[in-house]
Amino acid sequence: MRFSILTALSAIAAVGHALPSNLQARDVPNDELSHFKFWVEYAAASYCYDNYASKPGHKLTCSAHNCPQVEKSDTSIVYDFSNTTLTDTAGYIALDKTNKAIVLAFRGSYSVRNWIADASFFYTDPKLCDGCSAELGFWSSWTNVRDPISKVLNETVSKNPDYELVVVGHSLGAGVATLAAADLRVKGHPSTKLYAYASPRVANPALAKYISAQPNNYRFTHIDDPVPKLPLIAMGYVHVSPEYYITAPNNATVSTSEVQVLQGDINWEGNTGTGAPSLTAFSAHHWYFNEADGCIGAGLPFK
Ligand SMILES: *[C@@H]1O[C@H](CO)[C@@H](O)[C@H](O)[C@H]1NC(C)=O
Ligand SMILES: *[C@@H]1O[C@H](CO)[C@@H](O)[C@H](O)[C@H]1NC(C)=O
Ligand SMILES: *[C@@H]1O[C@H](CO)[C@@H](O)[C@H](O)[C@H]1NC(C)=O
Repeated sequence: MRFSILTALSAIAAVGHALPSNLQARDVPNDELSHFKFWVEYAAASYCYDNYASKPGHKLTCSAHNCPQVEKSDTSIVYDFSNTTLTDTAGYIALDKTNKAIVLAFRGSYSVRNWIADASFFYTDPKLCDGCSAELGFWSSWTNVRDPISKVLNETVSKNPDYELVVVGHSLGAGVATLAAADLRVKGHPSTKLYAYASPRVANPALAKYISAQPNNYRFTHIDDPVPKLPLIAMGYVHVSPEYYITAPNNATVSTSEVQVLQGDINWEGNTGTGAPSLTAFSAHHWYFNEADGCIGAGLPFK
């Protein structure tokens, strides 16, 4: 089924009706909050040219000064990828000796606005579960890079068996990260952690249920960020549960009471309930504990 966002948006009057879908909202504990603030730095680092287009061995740095904790850690890039896929997927695999982690990071596309305006959201069968469909663009972004990444991950994991495997991404990168983590968990890496900041919807209800039942999913939204509202529920897409819904204002330090944990694949009390996606108001999209896409720089289409 072909479905343009702009057509669909004009077809729905408002999505702001508040249904009591969630009875288990809770604040996050302090130690979890510090993890959320740490892993977003790895997602932020994937926007910095030196990290996604560098030689293996390079230490991670962020020209926008938005990954100070990562810069303080003993890190090195094991593998990097860019310009390899239709959706402009780029990123890196890094080894973090300080935090004993192997990190697979997917950079968001520079052209998220074009994606919103132009994308047709087709389904494809990811062969993960019965009746499961994934959004084609995100799934193929992953499968286009899966073989080399999976090979490097297998080697890196066997050399560092006590390290955790963490998959991160912001924006469109979080969409790819979500599907990559789900796939890696059934291909030899069952404990893979996912930190997905500002992810679009990538799954139909069956796939979202399947991924939600896997361990270690951390999916974040921020106030009225339009990107997690897409593709629309009306097109058949829902989210992985839970939603860590950040209510703090843009550019502000986030406290534990400003992250609500909401259960379910559709949460009208979270980001979804803040109205139809605005194609022009992107300020909440940039701020996930930090300026997540600070390395993009001025002048590029994303900003
Ligand atoms: C990717 O392609 C763009 C446009 O063709 C080019 O400007 C950029 O340098 C390339 N990036 C890498 C890392 O090769
Ligand atoms: C990585 O290891 C997993 C589990 O052993 C295996 O299923 C997968 O095929 C391996 N990937 C590559 C590219 O060797
Ligand atoms: C947040 O910071 C950015 C860049 O520093 C600035 O452009 C933007 O106006 C700020 N937003 C708010 C709400 O203060």
